[in-house]
Order: sequence, then C-alpha cells, then structure tokens
Amino acid sequence: MNKKEVKLVEIGPRDGFQNVKEFIPTDVKLNVLKGLVSAGYKKIQITSFVSEKAIPQMKDAREITDYMLENHSDLDLFALVPNYYGAKSAWETGLREITPVMSLSETHNQANVRRSHDESINELKKIRDDFPEMKITQDIATVFGCPYEGKMEVGPLLELIGRMGEIGIDAITLCDTIGVAYPAQVEEVLDCVYKNFPDYEFNFHVHDTRNMGILNSYISIQKGINSVQTSIGGLGGCPFAPGATGNTASEDLIYLLEHDGYDTGIDFSKVLETAKYMKENINGNFSGHHINISVVQHGFN
Ligand code: COA
Ligand code: ZN
Repeated sequence: MNKKEVKLVEIGPRDGFQNVKEFIPTDVKLNVLKGLVSAGYKKIQITSFVSEKAIPQMKDAREITDYMLENHSDLDLFALVPNYYGAKSAWETGLREITPVMSLSETHNQANVRRSHDESINELKKIRDDFPEMKITQDIATVFGCPYEGKMEVGPLLELIGRMGEIGIDAITLCDTIGVAYPAQVEEVLDCVYKNFPDYEFNFHVHDTRNMGILNSYISIQKGINSVQTSIGGLGGCPFAPGATGNTASEDLIYLLEHDGYDTGIDFSKVLETAKYMKENINGNFSGHHINISVVQHGFN
C-alpha cells in the first residue's frame, strides 16, 4: 500500500522556547535545531524577532538565524514577528518567510501584540508592501477560543481572512492557542475556510492543553490541511494565554502517523532522542507522552 504524504512543520524552537523562563544557552538551542534537521525536517520555525523586554528568551534570534541560514539554506526556515520592526529585522538577516501574528479575539490581540485589529491589519499591509518578496504566512491566534472572550465564531474568522486576502496574504495558520478545539469544531472551521478560500494555504497549530492535540491534528490531516505544526517534546504555551500548555508533541504525532500509513519523512527515533536531550538541558514544561516514558519498551520506538 502506498503511504499517504503529510507535511509536518516544527515550531518548538519558537513556540516551545519562548515559554521557558531561564535563558536557554544558544548552543543548546542550536543542538536542538541540528537534531531536528538530522531527523529530516524540511520546514522549521527557528525563532522570533520580538522585543527583548517582552520575551528575553528570544534575544539570540539573529545569531540563531545566521547559523541556520549559513548551514541549512536549503530548508524552509521561518520566524515569528509581532510587528513591522520584527519583519524588517527578519528580512535583514536574510530570512524569506515570516509569521506575523494576530488574534481573532481583539482582547487577546491587545494582550499579545498591543494592537487593535485595524492597527494590526494596517501594519500587515505595510509589511506586505515594503517586503514584496517575503513569504508571509499569517498566524491567526485564538481561532477556536480565547482565554478572555470564550468561544470564537467562524463568521468573524472568515471576515478576517478576507481582509488579509485583500492585502495579499494567502497563507494562514489557524491556531488553537489555548487548546480548546474539539473535532466537530475543527471540521466545521476547516470546511468553512476551504470552501470560502479554496486557493489559500491553511496550516494548523494546536496546543495540547486538554489532551486534544493529537486527535485534532489527525482530523485536520484527514480534512486535507496543508501542514500541521508541532512542538518537539510538547514544550511550550503562550506567555499571554494563562494556563495554555505546549503544542502537540512532534514525536507523539509522528508515532501515530507513521503507524497509520502516513509518510512524514521524519525519523521518529531521532526526534525522540533530541526531545530527551532537551529534557536534560532545558528547564521547561514538556507535555509530550513519549518523552515521559522512562522504561525501555523493546520494539516500540
Ligand atoms: N524586535 C525587537 N525589539 C522590538 C520589537 C521587535 N520586533 N518591537 C519593538 N521592539 C522594542 C522597541 O525598540 C522598544 O524598545 P525601547 O523601549 O528600548 O525603545 C520596545 O520594544 C517597545 O517598542 P514599542 O514600539 O512600544 O512596541 P510595539 O508596540 O511595537 O510592540 C511588541 C510591542 C508587541 C512588539 C512586544 O510586546 C512584543 O515583542 N511582544 C511579543 C509578542 C509575542 O511574541 N508573543 C508570543 C508569540 S504569539
Ligand atoms: Zn502556539
């Protein structure tokens, strides 16, 4: 039987690291990135260009980017940016793909990037106009629910995606920032976005706060999502979404997919080995399952 293709994107070096309080030495970050590359990842979110005061963990963004571009320019490397300043910094280092972030919930948008929707859209337009060769993959946070506003509706999401489309953004990552989505909701949202914007690229980013990450990721794959983002070791959360845990753990999803007839192109054992290296060297919250199995269970790696 032919294996089914699926595209996994690793975002742990941004979404995971940004939540670790203690500064992770740059060489530890680079070792994790090297592990991910050797495991076969083709697309990695390597850092974020944010204010050092807001997220001190990311102060080595430039160094990380320089190393990765110098050694792995054949890969799709991208970074999160919260504003124009970040987009410009990313462009200047040589990155050619960025993820600006905006929340469907106005309240969360204010908490995270201190902007109204209109302000964020205007800034996005300026980024689009000034960096026409940059691929912009827009993160929309709190698509399925917000820690301040509760459940989110599909109508406003479609309207927001439409506004982004008007300024030339046609790659979108739908983020379940606090891990509240459930299968019927994921199906409803994906059906609606693909029906209304059939030519767009949609990616899925789900936090595993309620142990729904694997299930929802799997459903998004069955619905034909362009890519699913995961975080190695399940490390992470959102500094501006109290109580959120990490994304779906990369190795847990790879295990499921590889046993279920998919070709991820990624070596499970190498990812797990890298995750274990992280647990030994990083003082963070790892919500993955495989990383927490300490007994040797032969034949199940
Ligand atoms: N990179 C580096 N420094 C930045 C920056 C960026 N992208 N954006 C702003 N700054 C600096 C400014 O130079 C300024 O420094 P100063 O106080 O020494 O003069 C300071 O940050 C505040 O600048 P200001 O213009 O008031 O910031 P802003 O309103 O444009 O935005 C944010 C502030 C949103 C950029 C900042 O709060 C931030 O980076 N938040 C992180 C959001 C995030 O990453 N969330 C998690 C991921 S979803
Ligand atoms: Zn996230």
